[in-house]
Amino acid sequence: MNTTPKKIVIAIDGFSSCGKSTFAKSIAARLGYIFIDTGAMYRAVTLYALENEGIRNGIVDEEAVVALLSQISITFRFNAQRGASDIYVNGDLVEGKIRTIEVSNCVSAVSSIREVREKLVAMQQEMGAARGVVMDGRDIGTVVFPDAELKIYMTADAMVRAERRYAELTAKGDKVSLDEVLENVVSRDKADMSRAISPLRQAEDAIVLDNSYMTVEEQMAWFEREFERVQQSLA
Ligand code: DC
Repeated sequence: MNTTPKKIVIAIDGFSSCGKSTFAKSIAARLGYIFIDTGAMYRAVTLYALENEGIRNGIVDEEAVVALLSQISITFRFNAQRGASDIYVNGDLVEGKIRTIEVSNCVSAVSSIREVREKLVAMQQEMGAARGVVMDGRDIGTVVFPDAELKIYMTADAMVRAERRYAELTAKGDKVSLDEVLENVVSRDKADMSRAISPLRQAEDAIVLDNSYMTVEEQMAWFEREFERVQQSLA
């Protein structure tokens, strides 16, 4: 690998539960870059809405969520143990509370609200302004950083993704069925791709990584080649 690589923005977009965060985290650690999980930001807003009457009985009240936005301050703090940043809302650590099935079931609706996206996209652009970031999400290569030097579009078979998320949830003690998780994965794919604002789509200059049957090591070897290719094109 190049000894003096140029600091770039690495945009990783793709479906839910296809290992974007694990991949992005490994890349950031490898390069000494900052890793930003933008899904966690949409989840944090959703959690706040669930706890503050923006969502009642699973129904998202858009006006109420928009009214709550000015009360929400999102920050990240690096957690050396996890090797990634934890997310805080108004100073409260919410990392452990944002990945429940309740949040997952409402996050697509919350993330389709224009004002929510405007607030979070502006924050993301500020966080990556100095480059040297790996950002994962749905619209990073298309909307947040259309000028990212390396754009990766990740995908994996829906059942493989459901099995991964199911293993994560049950390991935490969540009582869910594989069917329920699969249904959530499929319905979120549909919602993410069909929403009016910033739908999930592959940027024209993104390269596809289907990791259904790839180990983390194989993905990293693939990444090293692509990173080197980009660095050579910038030299
Ligand atoms: O990556 P994730 O599954 O934790 O993301 C949670 C939700 O947030 C996902 O259903 C879509 C939404 N999201 C988004 O709309 N835009 C992003 N950049 C990241 C996530």
